[in-house]
Amino acid sequence: MLKVENLTKRFGGIIAVNDVSFEIEKGEIVGLIGPNGAGKSTLINLISGFYKPDKGKIVFEGKDITKIEMFKRAKLGIARTFQNSRIVSNMTALMNVLYAIIGRENGENISLHEAYVESIYYLDLFGLLKKRDILASDLPIYELRLLELARALALRPKILLIDEALAGLNPVEAENVSKLINRIKEEFNLTIIWVEHVLKVLMRSVERVLVMHYGKLIADSTPAEVVRNQQVIDAYIGEEAV
Ligand SMILES: Nc1ncnc2c1ncn2[C@@H]1O[C@H](COP(=O)(O)OP(=O)(O)OP(=O)(O)O)[C@@H](O)[C@H]1O
Ligand SMILES: [Mg+2]
Repeated sequence: MLKVENLTKRFGGIIAVNDVSFEIEKGEIVGLIGPNGAGKSTLINLISGFYKPDKGKIVFEGKDITKIEMFKRAKLGIARTFQNSRIVSNMTALMNVLYAIIGRENGENISLHEAYVESIYYLDLFGLLKKRDILASDLPIYELRLLELARALALRPKILLIDEALAGLNPVEAENVSKLINRIKEEFNLTIIWVEHVLKVLMRSVERVLVMHYGKLIADSTPAEVVRNQQVIDAYIGEEAV
C-alpha cells in the first residue's frame, strides 16, 4: 500500500532521513522507534507531504506521490497527527472536528447538519462528547491527544500516521489511547504507522517495528525480535529494558 524508496532529507549539514526504504501492506500496524533526533518525525513529514525529499520516491496505492502537495495526499487518504498538537486552541473540541470534515469535503458535498452529526459521532467514539463545547486550550493533554486522533480519523484516512500519541500521559491514559488506536484500526480498516517512545505500550500494540538511528533504518522486524536486536539495544533501548 505504501512504498518508500531511498528516501533522503537533509537540513543543512544534517541528514535527517538517510536512504530509507520499506514497504507497508494494507492493514498493517507498524511502530516507528528510535532515539531523539533519529529522523522519525521527518519521515512522517515526508510521507504526509509536509516536507519534500531531496532524494527518493514515495508510492501510495501504486501512485507516485513524491511531488504531490500535502492537502492532495490527505484527499488520497493519508492523515497524520502531530508530535506537537496542531489542534486549534481557541476553537472548541466540536469545531476542531467539524472544520476537518468541512475541509475534507471542500465544504461542498456535505451540509452543516451532516458535518455536525458526523463530528458528534467521532467525538463520541473517543469519549469526548461531553467535552464538545470546551475550548481546546482548556482540555487536559489526555483529551487533546484523543481530539487529535478524532480529527485525523474524521478525514476518513486509509493510512494514519501517528507522531507520539502517548507522550505526557500516565500509564492508565496511555493504555486507553493505545486500545483506542487498535480499535479504530479494526473498525475503520486502517493502516497505521505509529511513532512512539513509550515502548512498553507500543510493543504490545503493533505487529512490526521499524527502528531509525541517525536517519538510517537499522531494523525492521517483529517487536519480539527488535528488543533482542543488539544494534537496536545499543542505539536506543538499552540493556535494562529488555
Ligand atoms: N525543520 C528542520 N530544520 C532543521 N533541522 C531539522 C528540522 N526538522 C528536523 N531537523 C533535524 O533533523 C533530525 C531529525 O529530527 P526528527 O524531528 O525527525 O527526529 P525524531 O526522531 O522525530 O526525534 P524525537 O524523538 O525527538 O521527536 C534532528 O537532528 C533534527 O534536529
Ligand atoms: Mg519526533
